[in-house]
Amino acid sequence: MPGIVLIGAQWGDEGKGKATDLIGTKVDYVARFNGGNNAGHSVVVGNESYALHLLPSGIINPHLTPVIGNGVVVDPEVLFQEIDGLEARGIDCSHLLVSEAAHIIAPYHRTLDKVTERFLGKHKIGTTGRGIGPAYADKINRVGIRVHDLFNEQHLHDKVEASLHQKNQMLVKLYNRRPIDVDQTTEELLKLGERLKPYVANTGLILNKALDEGKTVLFEGAQATMLDVDHGTYPFVTSSNPTAGGACTGTGVGPTKITRVIGVSKAYVTRVGEGPFPTELFDESGEWLRTQGHEFGVTTGRPRRCGWFDAVVNRYASQVNGLTDIVLTKLDVLTGLDEIPICVAYDVDGERYDDMPTDQAAFSAAKPIYETMPGWSEDISNCHSFDELPATCQAYVKRLEELSNCRISAIGTGPQRDHIISVHSLID
Ligand code: IMP
Repeated sequence: MPGIVLIGAQWGDEGKGKATDLIGTKVDYVARFNGGNNAGHSVVVGNESYALHLLPSGIINPHLTPVIGNGVVVDPEVLFQEIDGLEARGIDCSHLLVSEAAHIIAPYHRTLDKVTERFLGKHKIGTTGRGIGPAYADKINRVGIRVHDLFNEQHLHDKVEASLHQKNQMLVKLYNRRPIDVDQTTEELLKLGERLKPYVANTGLILNKALDEGKTVLFEGAQATMLDVDHGTYPFVTSSNPTAGGACTGTGVGPTKITRVIGVSKAYVTRVGEGPFPTELFDESGEWLRTQGHEFGVTTGRPRRCGWFDAVVNRYASQVNGLTDIVLTKLDVLTGLDEIPICVAYDVDGERYDDMPTDQAAFSAAKPIYETMPGWSEDISNCHSFDELPATCQAYVKRLEELSNCRISAIGTGPQRDHIISVHSLID
């Protein structure tokens, strides 16, 4: 009954797509449990590269069943664009399953995301503008549209009307925009529902049965620990739970079925959007990491903010997610540095913090306390075992492991699928 959760340990973009796809060759189901098309996975298979936003990255593998769980917010137009794009390249998507209880991102959620950000001005979150926050807000306000609502015209009309009633007042009176038409929106959603229907299923039941039959399910997190609405750097977070607990609520599988929790971390740190980031580099080192690591968003194309590895964040990720393993990605990006700083603790107004401050103001004021390790200059992309890595590189990895309170079980040494060193099996 292996239920494996794979999540981001930092602020996202840790290279989860590659890790998911790697483990995915040994699993039966890959289920997404949070977020929507704000995510961006690049999956490289042979010479082909696939940029995915909403589909589980396991979709590339024909031997497993990709699932979009109830905790995901689904923009059907984006889903069909992704399916059409993949099918045009010969990837069959007909085995995709979408939860009937997942919430829909309607066109008005995208509109609201953009106008709200504009209205917030200097307080903006720096969202991806994909309607994620407004769709989750409707879910919590109990005025959301779920996938199964798309199959009943009268019921859908009533729900759209209820949802737009207050929004239209806001759009007109507060944001000075035109109101959104209920009939037209219902019509559009019904059409999208028709196309969505063949993929829709009771995915909670299917996943539980699969686990009971001894099948392996990989729960694929989007975004990451520090973007979690409860455990991240609130309010500069996404609107879902990308931490391991979200795998249960976002798919309908109980915590006793989870056997492994794998966190993916870069060998340095990046962040997009606004919000505090203690190890952020504003000098040429930051520019160097961005260039070497090709740190530009898959979803928005935005340059990512870059900084040194933050062990406080990783220790926190181990704690919040109950990590059993870490997959360390992009270690090759650090090749060529004479010295590599690691943030081991924070200084907040003269007080040392070894653990994550829970207070937003303290975290915003946190200054990194660094320890410096010697770098390496050898190309590591052809190393196939830990022992083949240069001694200073091994020492760097060992130190990250020690500081993170979790073993490092795989190490990414380059962009290709086989650029990975396995230290401990991720599936057994
Ligand atoms: P939203 O998820 O579009 O509401 O954006 C909220 C915050 O999460 C912003 O700072 C985004 O840049 C960030 N974010 C959302 N999705 C991702 C992701 O997949 N990787 C990294 N950051 C993300």
